[in-house]
Amino acid sequence: MPLPPRARDPARAADSHDDRPGDLVNWRGKLKLTHAVALTALMAAPAFADGDPAAGEKAFNKCKSCHMIETPDGETIVRGGRVGPNLYGIPGRQAGTVEGFNYGKSIIEAGEKGLVWDAETFAAYSADPKGYMQEYLGESSVQVKMSFRLRDGAEDIYAYLESVSAE
Ligand code: HEC
Repeated sequence: MPLPPRARDPARAADSHDDRPGDLVNWRGKLKLTHAVALTALMAAPAFADGDPAAGEKAFNKCKSCHMIETPDGETIVRGGRVGPNLYGIPGRQAGTVEGFNYGKSIIEAGEKGLVWDAETFAAYSADPKGYMQEYLGESSVQVKMSFRLRDGAEDIYAYLESVSAE
């Protein structure tokens, strides 16, 4: 996601005063990351209003037999099973793209066709993964590996995933 030009300006202005090329790379990297985190938090705000992350943390008990939450650095947020993919960073991510996870073909196809997880798609999928894929792909014959169906509380779980992924 490109940053708006104004968010970049302070970095550029400061760069021109910096005469230590070695430090510059780290310093700029850090600055960019800070902007990205701030933007992510801003965009996440409306969904936080809908779901309750604390309730979502409890409700995640229903998911953890198959799903862990682990940061890209390998830090475990929730120890869980490996039947399903790591759910860290799901908000805003293209479906079926956790590296190294052996997905069924339908979710990969849906992701390639533009399925991205937001509060709405996440809730609809969690309620009925197979039905959702059938509808999304417009095919009755789908290959879907998640057999679990969530009755309620998807918005809370989404808010929880959003809160831990922003850390
Ligand atoms: C019985 C095991 C199981 C349980 C319980 C389970 N899942 Fe899954 N989940 C899977 C599997 C397997 C996949 C991969 C689906 C595929 O490849 O078709 C998956 C995929 C997903 C995805 C898509 C992830 C991606 O990378 O695109 C989401 C979102 C998801 N699950 C949410 C949940 C939530 C939320 C819960 C708890 C309410 C839950 N799952 C409970 C097995 C499970």
